[in-house]
Amino acid sequence: MKERLEALRAEALQELQGVTGPQELSDLRVKYLGKKGALTEILRGMGALSAEERPVIGEVANSVRGAIEAVIEEKNAAFRRAETEERLRSETIDVTLPGSPLPAGAVHPLNKVAQEIEDIFIGMGYTIAEGPEVETDYYNFEALNLPKNHPARDMQDSFYITDEILMRTQTSPVQIRSMKAMSGKSPLKIICPGKVYRRDDDDATHSFQFNQVEGLVVGKGIRMSDLKGTLLQFVQEMFGKQARIRLRPSFFPFTEPSAEVDMTCSQCGGKGCRMCKGTGWLEILGCGMVHPKVLQAGGYDPEEVTGFAFGMGIERIALLKYGIDDIRHFYTNDLRFLSQFARM
Ligand code: DAH
Repeated sequence: MKERLEALRAEALQELQGVTGPQELSDLRVKYLGKKGALTEILRGMGALSAEERPVIGEVANSVRGAIEAVIEEKNAAFRRAETEERLRSETIDVTLPGSPLPAGAVHPLNKVAQEIEDIFIGMGYTIAEGPEVETDYYNFEALNLPKNHPARDMQDSFYITDEILMRTQTSPVQIRSMKAMSGKSPLKIICPGKVYRRDDDDATHSFQFNQVEGLVVGKGIRMSDLKGTLLQFVQEMFGKQARIRLRPSFFPFTEPSAEVDMTCSQCGGKGCRMCKGTGWLEILGCGMVHPKVLQAGGYDPEEVTGFAFGMGIERIALLKYGIDDIRHFYTNDLRFLSQFARM
């Protein structure tokens, strides 16, 4: 029996040496040490042994079991170690590798220019006013000294919703709304950025929807020179200290006198180029002294206060600032165009 046990030990240890994986190891454990295994099989014959032989054989059996278990345990540990090493290797993260980039968005050039305009006027003490885009005929035209059938209404072809309601064609109606909200108190200093709508065919310089910024100052002793100084300050902050402006007489129903403002060409500095069509000047906005009838419509006494107003197209300012030649670039959302402004 002792020989059988020793043979079993030798066979088991040899077979265990060649084991290649945990499953095979577990099978061998069953084969040699399991309830129906080889060792149990041999020990069944213990009953036939004499009382002297039994402890001797028992000891050999325990030693064989111990030796097999020790090797199994050792192999098991080796497999576990190998598995851990493999996991560590395959799951390693190299923190020094560059990350996968997340594309960052950017402010749209029109919003950027609008914010710049707002910042400049806020710096001069203005507050921001807003008004509805769906407007009444009264605020959009009538109160701005544009009665029904006034020929100047043709300057701004309108989207009417009913006879009395339309999409605002300009931000000027916010002038009336802001004045009324003051109930006759002054000074009033506001700018109003916002969308406006006109029945234009879209092309390189026209769009049925675009953005304006309106400015209005009402107070005692406001003069045309205040207007000119304000606009010069604005243009120089927006386009650089070298910029100059000139005022040309013009007509708007809501201002008297009215002027159109040119600035020295931002492209050639005034020498004359393609952008300014050789004149050295670029038209940038309309302005004037608020018409007495408009002050009255806003609840002010034109004998007490005076005011100036101006209105500009945000797209136009952006076209000039960045030297863009087609307004439609602003609306078609081509990332090749938009991404150029990400770091400007
Ligand atoms: N509302 C005018 C337009 O859309 C622009 C304008 C001109 C606004 C003169 C003014 C102004 O406030 O005084 O063409």
